[in-house]
Amino acid sequence: MSKVDKFYEAKNLFQCPKCKKKIRFHGGALVCKKEHTFDIAAKGYVNLLQQTKSFKGYDAGFFKSRRAFFAAGYYDHIVGEVVDTACRFLGNMEAPVVLDAGCGEGGYSAAIEAAFAGNGVAGQVLAFDIASDAIKVAAGDDNVKWMVADITNIPVKDGVVDCILDVFTPANYKEFNRVLADNGYLIKVVPGSAHLQELRRAVSDQLQNKEYSNEDVTDYFEDHYELVSRVKCTATRELSRENLVNLVRMTPLLFDVDKSRLDLSGVTEITIEGEVLVGRKK
Ligand SMILES: C[S@@+](CC[C@H](N)C(=O)[O-])C[C@H]1O[C@@H](n2cnc3c(N)ncnc32)[C@H](O)[C@@H]1O
Ligand SMILES: [Zn+2]
Repeated sequence: MSKVDKFYEAKNLFQCPKCKKKIRFHGGALVCKKEHTFDIAAKGYVNLLQQTKSFKGYDAGFFKSRRAFFAAGYYDHIVGEVVDTACRFLGNMEAPVVLDAGCGEGGYSAAIEAAFAGNGVAGQVLAFDIASDAIKVAAGDDNVKWMVADITNIPVKDGVVDCILDVFTPANYKEFNRVLADNGYLIKVVPGSAHLQELRRAVSDQLQNKEYSNEDVTDYFEDHYELVSRVKCTATRELSRENLVNLVRMTPLLFDVDKSRLDLSGVTEITIEGEVLVGRKK
């Protein structure tokens, strides 16, 4: 299937972000009933944002470094847990639809897509991010439907998603509940208190919150969803100079830090810790 034609498969899932009408696949584009047209790029993604938006720090360099740091294996334990969790909860569905909200460079979606293909699951993976730079890094020779879109106005119909992934990304529970099927799941990954602790210690004089707790975020999650699983994934690994450089460029922790004052010579290893929460609609 071509990088454009793959969107045909998902044509019944989209909704126009401008007028909320149904979208059809027509002439290499997604077109709604009111003729709002969103061209599918040859690289295999579609931009459904009405206005280009970007956030400080989330630029092409951020996503390229994030991809390189992931490729070095530092997040493998979290990616593995997310994939296993998705397969466990979706395993008995015929053709599950997964939506990765705020997918960044797309590593989690690519891994779920590969697991579906490997296990003969006829599922579909849709993934979006507000940063077009993220989607340009993510999109490639695969079957994931990559989109530039906003979490506050998800271009997907009501109730068609079986599993939302929300990994290290802010949530919008109103939109999540709109697009999630009644028996669907939300898999949310939040940083653990030990996440990046070596880096956090080294820059503590420049951080407002010297210690991190995910309690507020997990309480808010439990206000909205019935918690059905919670798993902490932690791994500490040596950090080479090259991977340290990528880490510095790919973490929001350092967005507000004066990089010219950094002394990271003592940071020789790094802990990556995430908690994988699974919720069901209440
Ligand atoms: C820390 S990154 C995590 C990316 C990816 N899930 C990962 O774990 O590598 C947070 C992501 O949220 C995206 N984001 C922030 N606000 C968003 C919004 N309103 N809609 C969609 N994506 C958003 C950013 O562009 C960024 O890619
Ligand atoms: Zn429209």
